[in-house]
Amino acid sequence: MNFELSEEHLAVRDAARDFAHSELLPGVIERDSEAKFPKEQIKQMGELGFMGMMVDPKYNGGGMDTLSYVLAMEELSKIDASASVSMSVNNSLVCWGLEKYGTEDQKEKYLKRLATGEILGAFCLSEPEAGSDATSQRTEAKLEGDHYILNGTKNWITNGGTASVYLVIAQTDSSLGHKGISAFIVEKGWDGFVIGKKEDKLGIRGSDTHSLMFTDVKVPAENRIGDEGFGFRFAMETLNGGRIGIAAQALGIAAGAYEFSLAYSKERKAFGKPISQHQAIQFKLADMATTIEAARLLVYKAAILKDQGKDYAHASAMAKLYASQVAMDVTVEAVQVHGGYGYVKEYHVERLMRDAKITQIYEGTSEIQKIVISRGILK
Ligand code: CAA
Ligand code: FAD
Repeated sequence: MNFELSEEHLAVRDAARDFAHSELLPGVIERDSEAKFPKEQIKQMGELGFMGMMVDPKYNGGGMDTLSYVLAMEELSKIDASASVSMSVNNSLVCWGLEKYGTEDQKEKYLKRLATGEILGAFCLSEPEAGSDATSQRTEAKLEGDHYILNGTKNWITNGGTASVYLVIAQTDSSLGHKGISAFIVEKGWDGFVIGKKEDKLGIRGSDTHSLMFTDVKVPAENRIGDEGFGFRFAMETLNGGRIGIAAQALGIAAGAYEFSLAYSKERKAFGKPISQHQAIQFKLADMATTIEAARLLVYKAAILKDQGKDYAHASAMAKLYASQVAMDVTVEAVQVHGGYGYVKEYHVERLMRDAKITQIYEGTSEIQKIVISRGILK
């Protein structure tokens, strides 16, 4: 077992770190306050190759491994988890799903532009009455000749307003349960496709979350991904990788809060010495550093298993479950280390604390991760 990162991995990590500090940090507080999408920053991330990192270069991607992607996600999430969730959805749900299961035509038409960040993608599984219980899809797609007629509502869709391409999961034969669910590529602007208002959220406030309404939307049959009935498997397989990205996001949020706390504890004086010399603060820093390192090992392990072509569903659920808990614990303690200053926006940790919570909810709640893990253990 080798715990050293390669030169290439270090270069990716450093590039992401530099970008986060030079381009994401200035303005992150204002974007959070105003719930403003980091449009310009996402464009730059595309130019730097962060929006299609794992895609084969023949489809305009970076051709990198999952570990590189995780390293970049961690660095960007230390500063701006709103920007990093857009990146995560585009990379590990949309690009990965299309590259793995799409036709050559679909890759030519959509993947090539998604991989450069020229356009953004969204992944649409959740519905008002089908969140954790994702097999209870109400959205329907009925085949009529050479196209499907799509009707239904999707909820909470990241990149919902800013995306151009939407991967939509829908029932094609409700009598078959989850084996009657299919996946489709839908374009913004098609007749009957309406984007609801942007959600006003606790955290990741810059990210762009919307409901989507489909009324008799005509979807060409060639825009189905895989066979009819493959959609639920498509969603689950895609989410197995997506959860590694969100685990890396949670790791980054925790590591960012820790780094702010470590620096602050050396500067802030109380009772005649830096607070870092009080044992109560030292122990908080020790707990933060230890749990972050444990989370990092789980996240890297899931990424490496995926890169080695081994089964990673179980490892990615464990990484997400643990890293998201660490993100919550560490960010709450980071606010405590900062005292009153931690409670105001200027010191960043209150934002990270608000951002941390979503990592326990999306791409499968912590309870759902425990279902995935326990089924893996007991099967
Ligand atoms: N990998 C591969 N296949 C899986 C799987 C996984 N992790 N989990 C389930 N499956 C397969 C099962 O093997 C089964 O297939 P077969 O019948 O062919 O064997 C099928 O899916 C149905 O599984 P279950 O019988 O276990 O169904 P269930 O209803 O009891 O449980 C669930 C399914 C695991 C709870 C699933 O519904 C789930 O993962 N829910 C969470 C949904 C989720 O993660 N949503 C995220 C939305 S995207 C998002 O959130 C993006 C973002 O924020 C940025
Ligand atoms: P519910 O499923 O109603 O769960 C409520 C509570 O019950 C949770 O604590 C849950 O863990 C618990 N629970 C449910 N079932 C069980 C069970 N069997 N055992 C134990 N506990 C259970 N979805 C997308 O498809 N695409 C996106 O891009 C996307 N982005 C999102 C962005 C944001 C900001 C948010 C808030 C959500 C996003 N989601 C997205 C949706 C997200 O995946 C769902 O919110 C999540 O899967 C939970 O579903 P739910 O909200 O319906 O909660």
